[in-house]
Amino acid sequence: MSAQIHGVLPFDKEKRKQIKFSDEALQTIEKIKQRYPEGKQKSALIPVLHIAQAENDGWLSPEVMDYVAELLNISPIEVFEVASFYTMFNLKPVGKCVLEVCRTSSCWLNGANEIVAYIEKKLGIKEGETTPDGMFTLKTVECLGSCGTAPMMQCGASYHENLTFEKVDAIIEKYRRENRRRNYTDLDWENTK
Ligand code: FES
Repeated sequence: MSAQIHGVLPFDKEKRKQIKFSDEALQTIEKIKQRYPEGKQKSALIPVLHIAQAENDGWLSPEVMDYVAELLNISPIEVFEVASFYTMFNLKPVGKCVLEVCRTSSCWLNGANEIVAYIEKKLGIKEGETTPDGMFTLKTVECLGSCGTAPMMQCGASYHENLTFEKVDAIIEKYRRENRRRNYTDLDWENTK
């Protein structure tokens, strides 16, 4: 099953043997698969990758992608093609809170670069990096569909809009205090405007 992913990314057969999602995650994946006709399980890939990422500390290792391929009865390279296309999927370890600052036109015109520079200085990291304590990763991404409330950023399932330096301070402080991983699958998302 895993042959195609070999040579593209390092692959650890022992780690692969140890991968097992929680019962709750597996049940949810089964329900998602049932939305599609037999043989069309690939259509479930994106929601299943969100669950896989949440089950694996916020990122998709080659071994996890291989496991997802087996769950959906597709080839590992098909999983990799999708996972490597979208910025919402992380192919290397990330912090508990991935701050995704939109950098597209409306956000750019309304100060996204200044917000990114402010976060970089505040956290002592550059875009694409993770803080040494494993709490925050900073990314820039394309339009997140909240252009009317620019500049904005996403973290897990939550949107933070009309950003100012003061709002960034409050968000980072809250996330530090809560000290938990934030996923796209979170149900307790918030939308701060
Ligand atoms: S340009 Fe930033 S949300 Fe659309």
